Amino acid sequence: MACQLLKGKRGIIFGALNTNSIAWTVAEYCFKEGATFTLTNTPVAIRLGNTHDLAEASKTIVIPADATNTEDLKILYEKSIEFLGGKIDFVLHSIGMSKNVLKNREYHELDYTDFLKTLDISAVSLHKLMQTAYQNDYLNEFASVITLSYIGAHRVFEGYSDMSHAKALLESIVRNFGYHYGKARNVRINAVSQSPAYSTASKAVAGFDKMFDFSNQMSPLGNATAQDCAGLCVALFSDLTTKLTMQTIYNDGGFSNVGMSSDVLLKFT
Ligand SMILES: NC(=O)c1ccc[n+]([C@@H]2O[C@H](COP(=O)([O-])OP(=O)(O)OC[C@H]3O[C@@H](n4cnc5c(N)ncnc54)[C@H](O)[C@@H]3O)[C@@H](O)[C@H]2O)c1
Repeated sequence: MACQLLKGKRGIIFGALNTNSIAWTVAEYCFKEGATFTLTNTPVAIRLGNTHDLAEASKTIVIPADATNTEDLKILYEKSIEFLGGKIDFVLHSIGMSKNVLKNREYHELDYTDFLKTLDISAVSLHKLMQTAYQNDYLNEFASVITLSYIGAHRVFEGYSDMSHAKALLESIVRNFGYHYGKARNVRINAVSQSPAYSTASKAVAGFDKMFDFSNQMSPLGNATAQDCAGLCVALFSDLTTKLTMQTIYNDGGFSNVGMSSDVLLKFT
């Protein structure tokens, strides 16, 4: 049930590649809650995905940008502000990619060029988009920025490989930029640490199906879905959460606090 929680808010949503993208569902929820926003992704992803269908449904435009390229980001902000008619109130950073994961390389066989690319795309891009906004004053006071993380930032999940380092760095950028942007202009920055959900990026993780089932059976509430994530993002983008910043918020059905569930224990009896 929509309550127009985001009426009058202007946003930018990164990462809606296809209907399985978490960002896709977040965009649908934001639209229902009265927000206006632009959509963005890399030119290749826009060509191969269905972002234009989502743009049509949410009465907006798609602006190509590689999130590792600060020139692209500047153009993205400027075109978004022009199209939306004012400065930005919320940003969803829903970006992740690791060639080491895609190529299923063992953790002790990483390619370092690809490792640096993983960090740049999946973590440093958040710093780049925050810094571009900070230096050019593209965000309104109390704007809300969300990035998506995973508990692999803190614990070892074998197939998660160098993405675990990207997520650890990402959460650190959330805390540090959250401090600086908060002091300067009351901008909030948070990470949502999300349960496994089936998407193009997650399918690349070795053993994803089993990771999904494991965390589903460990969590008292079961895995959080993309819809659960979208609901949380709406709350975080809204004016109901103006003092919530610099946090990693676990949207995981309780998984992060469980040592062993009876469902999983049963498998060993
Ligand atoms: N699906 C899950 O199980 C899960 C769980 C926890 C966190 N996450 C995180 O959620 C986010 C979204 O992933 P998803 O599962 O929706 O998968 P997805 O594949 O739909 O989204 C990843 C997006 O990143 C974009 N991207 C890659 N390189 C880029 C670049 N250089 N510039 C701009 N965009 C770029 C892709 O085009 C794609 O749209 C990621 O950060 C992912 O790590 C996913």
